[in-house]
Amino acid sequence: MKIAKTLSILGIAVAGISLAGCRAGGENQGLEFAPQMYHSVAYEPLTQVMDSETKGNLISTREDGKGEFFNSNINNPHNMNMREPVANTVPRNKQGYLPHRYKAFEIEEAAAVKNPVKLSDEVLDEGKRLYGLYCTPCHGTGGAGDGKVGDIIGGVANLTGGAYTGLSEGHIYHVITKGKGRMGAHGSQITPENRWKIVHYVKQDLQGGQNADNAVAAVVDQDVTQVETPAN
Ligand code: HEC
Repeated sequence: MKIAKTLSILGIAVAGISLAGCRAGGENQGLEFAPQMYHSVAYEPLTQVMDSETKGNLISTREDGKGEFFNSNINNPHNMNMREPVANTVPRNKQGYLPHRYKAFEIEEAAAVKNPVKLSDEVLDEGKRLYGLYCTPCHGTGGAGDGKVGDIIGGVANLTGGAYTGLSEGHIYHVITKGKGRMGAHGSQITPENRWKIVHYVKQDLQGGQNADNAVAAVVDQDVTQVETPAN
């Protein structure tokens, strides 16, 4: 009986102390359980802790003797977690494309860029699928500018007729990327490679292969190394 009583008092005391540890507010941050779960020890550039002295509230489990939350990369200059790009280099995306640096109004220069994606039946099929996803609401399945959304906003280009059939591939690519007039930019939604596939589909199928590669002669000698072209 005596033992049971002692045990229950002990139990209440332990529970009380544990619950008191859950309290937090004001100056008291409370005790953190497994702090390394919250304070990442990975090299995170946005939460980089440079101070290697400060220890956490609990005993550090680190083996290098540094502070609990220190998470800087000691192998990099200035302990940087995120290295700066190498000087005079340009980043490419995973497909090896350089960034498309032409501004929306630099359409003449952009029009000279050649389609880097090789034409094939698979590319046309994929281009058709993507066109169906991104372009039909306005331009319509056949490209005549008669999509359901097009009916409402009006003024949608009929890609199958008039001067539009003479547009170069680079021009269409640029319009998809940056938008034009009442058409919004789609660059953030469609990868460069997929944009070029859509261009193939528009040129070959919707426009029947007319002037497929008529890059504007006057601007072909422009520096096109700054736009999305694959590495190889
Ligand atoms: C929200 C409706 C909408 C969507 C979606 C849309 N367009 Fe357009 N598009 C327009 C309108 C409106 C114009 C006419 C723009 C102007 O000249 O003011 C246009 C014009 C164009 C032109 C002619 C550009 C020029 O130089 O006159 C091309 C080419 C074109 N769109 C291709 C596409 C392709 C390819 C897609 C799919 C990736 C697409 N559009 C998606 C509304 C849209």
